[in-house]
Amino acid sequence: MSVHAPALADAHLPDKQTSAFARDAARDLSQHPKRLSPKYFYDATGSELFEAITRLPEYYPTRTELRILRDRGGEIAKLIPKGAALVEFGAGATTKARLLLKNSAFGAYVPVDISGEFIKAQADALRRDFPQLAVYPVTGDFTAPFTLPSVVETMPRVGFFPGSTIGNFEPDEACRFLRSARGILGEDAQMIIGADLEKDERVLYDAYNDAAGVTARFNLNVLVRMNRELGANFDLSAFTHRAIFNRERHRIEMHLISKKKQTVRMLGTSFSFRTGETIHTENSYKYSVDRFEALARGAGWTVRESWTDPAKMFSVHALMAA
Ligand SMILES: C[S@@+](CC[C@H](N)C(=O)[O-])C[C@H]1O[C@@H](n2cnc3c(N)ncnc32)[C@H](O)[C@@H]1O
Repeated sequence: MSVHAPALADAHLPDKQTSAFARDAARDLSQHPKRLSPKYFYDATGSELFEAITRLPEYYPTRTELRILRDRGGEIAKLIPKGAALVEFGAGATTKARLLLKNSAFGAYVPVDISGEFIKAQADALRRDFPQLAVYPVTGDFTAPFTLPSVVETMPRVGFFPGSTIGNFEPDEACRFLRSARGILGEDAQMIIGADLEKDERVLYDAYNDAAGVTARFNLNVLVRMNRELGANFDLSAFTHRAIFNRERHRIEMHLISKKKQTVRMLGTSFSFRTGETIHTENSYKYSVDRFEALARGAGWTVRESWTDPAKMFSVHALMAA
C-alpha cells in the first residue's frame, strides 16, 4: 500500500530510462494485484540470464524457432527484397538474426533493444562477423514510437520479432504493437515474427520452472534492479518465483510471491506485502496458428506464410503490410 506519493523528483535518477522505470515501478506496485512490466527484467544481467534460459533443456522455444528458421531459410530468403534493412525488435543476442543475415542479401541491420549495454556489445560482435553489413543499434523501448536511422529510409524494410516476445503483450497491446511496427517500418514493409503455440500443460510448466532455477533468477533480477537503481530494499530471500499456466487466458504467468508479511521501501514510499501476495511480472501468451493470423490481419498485415515445426510447438509467420 502506498503511504505517500513517490518522491520521484528527489530520487536523483540519472537518466530518462531510469526515471521511466521509477515511475512505472511505483505505479505498478501500488496496483491490486501488484505487477511489474517484463521489460524491466532486461539490464545486462537480465539479458545474460535470458540467454542462459535459451540453453536450458526444458526451454523448447529458442531451439524450435531456430530449427524453423533454418529449415525454412530458403523460403524466407525468397521473400526478402535485395538490399533490405532488417529491423529487429528486442534483438537480444541476435542469434536468430544471424541466420537470416547469412541467408539473404541485407544492406543493413538495426537491432532495437531496451538493454543498451548488451545490444551495443552484440552489435560490435556482428560487425566483426559480418564486415560488409552496416549495423545501427538503437537503444530504446519498442512500445513507444521511435524513428529508424535515416540511412535505412531508402532501403526496403523487413521487421523481425522472434522469441515470442509478442506473447508478453496483452492481445490488445499486441495488436497496437503490430500496427505501430507497421508505421515505423513504413509502406511495403515485411515482417517475420515468431509466436509460441499452445501445447501440453506439463511442457509449458517445465519450460518456465526449470530445474536449475535460472528462470527464478531471471524473475528475481527485477528486484535486484529496483534495489540497485531505485534504492529499494527488497530482501531477495523473502520472495519466490512461481510460473503457472492460465488455460482460460492461454498464457503462462510469472509471479514473485512474498514468503512472509513484509514492508519494502522504495523512492520514499512503503509497499506492504501479505504472506503469499504476488507481484505479477510477466505473461507469455500462447497462440494457435489461426489465432495469431487473425491478430496479424486485425492489425493491418497480410499473412504470406505460416510455418511450424513438425511437432507444432512453435510458429513463424511472414507478414506483409497490407
Ligand atoms: C524474450 S527476449 C528475445 C530475444 C531474441 N530476440 C530472441 O528471440 O532470442 C526479449 C528481448 O526484447 C528486449 N525487450 C523486452 N521488452 C522491450 C521493450 N519494451 N523495448 C525494447 N526491447 C525490449 C529484451 O531486452 C530482450 O532482449
